[in-house]
Amino acid sequence: MALIQVENLRKEFKRQKRKDGFWPLMKSLVYREYEQKIAVEGISFTIGEGEIVGYIGPNGAGKSTTIKMMAGILVPTSGVVRVNGLVPFENRIENARRIGAVFGQKSQLWWDTPVIESLKLTKYMYDIPEDRFAQNMAMFSDILGLDEFKNVAVRALSLGQRMRADLCAALLHDPAIVYLDEPTIGLDVVVKERIREFIREINRDRGTTVILTTHDMADIEKLCSRVMVVDHGKLMYDGNLQTLKNDYGNMETMVVDTVENFVMDEALQDMGVAYSQTEDARNQLIYDKNKMNSSSIIKWIMERYTVRDFNVKETEIEEIIRKLYAGFSQEEKIERQEVMV
Ligand SMILES: Nc1ncnc2c1ncn2[C@@H]1O[C@H](COP(=O)(O)OP(=O)(O)OP(=O)(O)O)[C@@H](O)[C@H]1O
Ligand SMILES: [Mg+2]
Repeated sequence: MALIQVENLRKEFKRQKRKDGFWPLMKSLVYREYEQKIAVEGISFTIGEGEIVGYIGPNGAGKSTTIKMMAGILVPTSGVVRVNGLVPFENRIENARRIGAVFGQKSQLWWDTPVIESLKLTKYMYDIPEDRFAQNMAMFSDILGLDEFKNVAVRALSLGQRMRADLCAALLHDPAIVYLDEPTIGLDVVVKERIREFIREINRDRGTTVILTTHDMADIEKLCSRVMVVDHGKLMYDGNLQTLKNDYGNMETMVVDTVENFVMDEALQDMGVAYSQTEDARNQLIYDKNKMNSSSIIKWIMERYTVRDFNVKETEIEEIIRKLYAGFSQEEKIERQEVMV
């Protein structure tokens, strides 16, 4: 049986319409007008024990809303969520014992309390046995490096320290599932790496199931074999990371440096080559490596320019995802146009 089962899940938010100007504002105080926002629009998936699933998508796609429904924080408008056989929002307390959650944007710890005291409070709240608490603290302190700031009040922690403390607190009661909503947001590479190590470790050692939301594709590459891509509240892709790369990632990028000023040519375009410039004004040629090969492109260029240097690289996962997101928006636009016609 699947650990997490989500079927045709929907969430609509009712928002009061914003009014600009004095009279419209006054009127809106008397006659409240609402507008509907569909944040999650019929999503279905199952997640098995011990998986690490990356849940990705552009801003406002509906990721946090889905996670909040799985965690029992939000009540779905319709559809099914079952976690460990329980309906989270109907069995909040029972569900909370079995899950851990970190919302990167907001700490769950007591603001004015030293980290260690906050963690002890968590111990009492979840009724964690003394020896288990000690074991977990030893392991977590080691990987997350908590010792250097465990006596500091939460409000005085740096973002990276706070996130490490939050992760520790979320996992002290040995939850079977952990929801991590942007746990690496705004952190430096060293802390990010520590957090990834921690996630890997609890998944490997304890079989903890991890649902991870992030905008950092390195998190996904380093941790997740499965990714779900959501956009405008709909699931657009669910599967293997490698397959995603194969389907969308047959692209290669050639960076060329020419003595003469390089001008993108129509002939190159007709060959199926796209042009873009890097931030430091270098010329990038992007093409599908199944249809084109780099030698025919470089030959074409060398016949017309003096080439100083060139370099061919796989298109990075960031680029693939960007293309994927852009593709979705395009489809959405086409759909809308069709509706309008
Ligand atoms: N409490 C709320 N009331 C009204 N609308 C909401 C509420 N929470 C979310 N929304 C809307 O639902 C949509 C999905 O929001 P959600 O927070 O799930 O996106 P997200 O994928 O987590 O985005 P981000 O990457 O920016 O965190 C957005 O359009 C958002 O404005
Ligand atoms: Mg979010």
